Amino acid sequence: MTASDSPAIPLALTYDDVLLQPRRSAVVSRKDVDTSTWLTRKLRLNAPVLAANMDTVCESRLARAMARCGGLGVIHRFISIEDEAAEVARVKRPEVGGSPRLHTIGPNRTVGEATKLLGRHNVHSLLVVGDDERLLGILTSRDLLFSDNPSERVADVMTGGEDLVTAHVGTTIEDARRILHQMRLEKLPLVDEAGRLRGLITSRDVLRLAENPNAARDSHGRLLVGAAIGAVGDYMERAEALVAAEADVLVVDIAHGHSEHALRATRRVKEKFPSVELIAGNVATAEGALDLIEAGADAIKVGVGPGAACSTRIVTGVGVPQLTAVMDCARVAAERGVPICADGGIRFAGDITKALAAGASTVMIGSLFAATDESPGETVVRKGARYKVFRGMASAGAAEARSRREESQDVLDELAANVVAEGVEAVVPYRGSVAELMHQLVGGLRSGMSYLNAPSIEALRANARFVRITDAGWRESSPHDLQLAE
Ligand code: XMP
Repeated sequence: MTASDSPAIPLALTYDDVLLQPRRSAVVSRKDVDTSTWLTRKLRLNAPVLAANMDTVCESRLARAMARCGGLGVIHRFISIEDEAAEVARVKRPEVGGSPRLHTIGPNRTVGEATKLLGRHNVHSLLVVGDDERLLGILTSRDLLFSDNPSERVADVMTGGEDLVTAHVGTTIEDARRILHQMRLEKLPLVDEAGRLRGLITSRDVLRLAENPNAARDSHGRLLVGAAIGAVGDYMERAEALVAAEADVLVVDIAHGHSEHALRATRRVKEKFPSVELIAGNVATAEGALDLIEAGADAIKVGVGPGAACSTRIVTGVGVPQLTAVMDCARVAAERGVPICADGGIRFAGDITKALAAGASTVMIGSLFAATDESPGETVVRKGARYKVFRGMASAGAAEARSRREESQDVLDELAANVVAEGVEAVVPYRGSVAELMHQLVGGLRSGMSYLNAPSIEALRANARFVRITDAGWRESSPHDLQLAE
């Protein structure tokens, strides 16, 4: 066979190969653009950015910080099922309402005892609860101001009966805000159908919500969080525990998402937990995306080998440059109303604009978030500069840590003999807090949207006109021919 007989090989491009043409724009300020987007068929985020489910990137601390910025963290699965569920529960722990530390007192206790309790807990009110957990009233330090008899019963001084305002345990934070405002109250106890105390929303909770107006929250005001499962082994048990811990979305996380076991896992999880939102991946072709959609995925994660710590393409010869992979998958997924997450290879804010313009609804990022304060990776100092440790989940180190967790010498021995790493271990220069990094990333995206006359992500996609660039074009695009200031 000669070269001229060989079938035409299609060209595939990545972020650095292209730029977006600017357009006449009516968007006056980058503040005027709306970066909200679909995470899955049903869930929306205010910022189209996910932190990767990697063990040097995303546990509860980082996931909370991401959700406060409007994005989402996906808890990695390289810990025990119990630990992963506990990480999810930490993010879901109400910042507002349903506080696990409800300070209660019985109706037959005395005013003197109540005063001591208030002091001990350093709070201004106690919830008065009967033996059967039923809420009977609320006692505030104001009620006690007018009681000069320390042996008086709590039931005689509390606010109770018809004067007690409560709401049902499912009340949204918005409704709670309205009730607190209308009734000029500071505290709104939450009760179930039987009148049993189940939570408390305070005016301070509502103010705290206002501090992060862009946060990604569920209807109860709790932060959103995702959690990863595998496609073999204990993945169904893991899914069950994560659903019980109230993860908002599960992610079937496997390098070759277009494999029979990934498809089977997607199908089984969706069948057993039909109401859970499920992201599946990773794929890099339209056929891969279609098969996962058919299996029940509510969003598709795209990316084979673009990640900073990935060596899959070098080691195996397999992969598709990320811009083409996203475009191919988005074309078929859009027709079926399924969002695409562009996973890996984001190095600059502009890459996010390009990924979304190419059809993705969100991007997933590992290395940049590994470099933040909130990531679980270790901090190291080299020549006076701060770095954080980052590693690919298919690196030799990550595989060894996994087998150590399972405490199996057999697995360890087998790994030593057989593992072919498809990822590397590295350090990444420290980048400050998640909030600072998100400010930069989402700020760049907002600016890109304003250049394209795009007030929304949908408009960005519709208005996108890519041009391919040369190496010279790329060199021209980055700061050049300067002595950069120290
Ligand atoms: P970035 O570029 O944001 O990419 O760091 C994060 C994504 O990289 C993927 N990942 C890997 N891919 N070998 C791979 O081929 C690995 O060891 C590996 N670890 C992570 C993953 O999709 C992640 O979200």
